Amino acid sequence: MAVAATRAATRSSSRAFSVAAVNQWSAISANGSHSNASSLTLKNKFVQTRGLKQINFGGTVETVYERSDWPREKLLEYFKDDTLALIGYGAQGYGQGLNLRDNGLNVIIGVRKNGASWKAALEDGWVPGENLFEINEAVEKGTYVMNLLSDAAQSETWESIKPLLTKGKTLYFSHGFSPVFNDLTHVEPPKDIDTILVAPKGSGRTVRSLFKEGRGINSSYAVWNDVSGKADEKAQALAVAIGSGYVYKTTFEKEVNSDLYGERGCLMGGIHGMFLAQYEVLRENGHSPSEAFNETVEEATQSLYPLIGKYGMDYMYDACSTTARRGALDWYPVFKDALKPVFQDLYESTKNGSETKRSLEFNSQADYREKLEKELQTIRDMEIWRVGKEVRKLRPENN
Ligand SMILES: NC(=O)c1ccc[n+]([C@@H]2O[C@H](COP(=O)([O-])OP(=O)(O)OC[C@H]3O[C@@H](n4cnc5c(N)ncnc54)[C@H](OP(=O)(O)O)[C@@H]3O)[C@@H](O)[C@H]2O)c1
Repeated sequence: MAVAATRAATRSSSRAFSVAAVNQWSAISANGSHSNASSLTLKNKFVQTRGLKQINFGGTVETVYERSDWPREKLLEYFKDDTLALIGYGAQGYGQGLNLRDNGLNVIIGVRKNGASWKAALEDGWVPGENLFEINEAVEKGTYVMNLLSDAAQSETWESIKPLLTKGKTLYFSHGFSPVFNDLTHVEPPKDIDTILVAPKGSGRTVRSLFKEGRGINSSYAVWNDVSGKADEKAQALAVAIGSGYVYKTTFEKEVNSDLYGERGCLMGGIHGMFLAQYEVLRENGHSPSEAFNETVEEATQSLYPLIGKYGMDYMYDACSTTARRGALDWYPVFKDALKPVFQDLYESTKNGSETKRSLEFNSQADYREKLEKELQTIRDMEIWRVGKEVRKLRPENN
C-alpha cells in the first residue's frame, strides 16, 4: 500500500511537471528543423500527449519518455519527409527494421549483396531496388542513417560511409562503441550532422517479439552531436518508432561502459560462470547430473528468476521457505564481497578500452564466425548444458 501511494504521488507530481514540458516542447517545435508548418500542426495535434516524466527510481529522480508521448500518428507526421536507412540486418536490424516498417515509416535496408543478411532481408519481405539496397546506396538515400552493422563492421566500413554522411542527415547508432572508442575504431561522426543513439536493453529478437505482443523494450538514448538543436527529440522519437516502451537518457560513454560491463557480468558471462561453479561443486560431491542441473539452472530460470523479474527480489525471498530465506540472507553478502573485486576489474577493463580492443581484433578476423562457432560448440559440449537439453525435453509442455 505504502509503495502504491508513493508511486501515485510521484505520478501525480509528474503530471504537474508535464504541463511545463508541454510548453517547453511547443516552443522548441516552432523553431525546429522540421518545417514550421509541420511543427505547428504537431503542436496543435499532439500537445495533449506530450509528457516527459520524472520518476523517483529508489531515491534518484530521473526523466523518462514513454511510448504514449509519441503515438503512431505523431511519429508518422514527424518522419513524414524522412527516409530511414537502416544498414545491417543482424538481430537489431531485423527487430528495429520490421518494427519501423510496421509503424508505417519509410524505412529501407542496406546490407552487402548476397550475404546472410541480404537473404534474411529477402525472406522478411524487403524488396531489392525498392527498400533493400547495398550499404552505400542506402546511406545515400537516407536522411537518417541507422548504423546497425556489427561493431567491428562499423569500423571496417567507416571510410566508405563517412563521405556519404552529408549535411542535413542524422547518424544513429545502437551502441556507443564506435564513436566512444574512436582511437581504436576510427569512427568519428562528422561534426556538422546530428549523431544520436538508441540502445535497446535486450536482443533484437526481443525488440521484435515485445513489439508484436503490444509491449515494448526499455532503451536508453544519447546525443553525441546536436547540430540542429533537435537531436534529443529525434532520438526520443526514433526510440519509440523502433519499438521502445520507455526510454531514459544517458551519454554515449555511459552507455558503452554499462553495456559492455553488463553483458560480461550478470547478463551473460558472470551468470554463466556462477552456474558452472555451482554445478561443478555439486558434481564433485557426488550429486547426479539431473540433481545438479535442477538445483542450479532449472529452478532458477523456471521458478525463481521469473519471480524476481515480475515482482522483485524481496517477493522472491518471501515466496521461499524460511530455511531457504535464512541461508540466502546469510550468503548473499559473501558472494557480493567475493565478486565485487571481479566486477571492479571488469569495469576498468571496459573503461580503458581493453574490451573494445579485444572485440574489434577478434570480430574483424575473416574467420571470426568459424572461431566463434568452435567456442559455442565447447559450451554445447559441456555436461551441464547437455544435461539441460534432456531436462528441457522432460518439461510436460515439451512432451
Ligand atoms: N544484439 C544485441 O542484443 C544488441 C543490443 C543492443 C545494441 N546492439 C548493437 O546494435 C548493433 C548491431 O548489432 P547486431 O547484434 O544486430 O548485429 P551483428 O550481428 O553484430 O551484425 C550483423 C550485421 O553486420 C553485417 N556485417 C558484418 N561484417 C560486415 C562487413 N565486413 N561488411 C558489411 N557488413 C558486415 C552483417 O552482414 P552479413 O550478414 O552480410 O555478414 C549483418 O548485417 C551493434 O552496434 C550492437 O552493439 C546489439
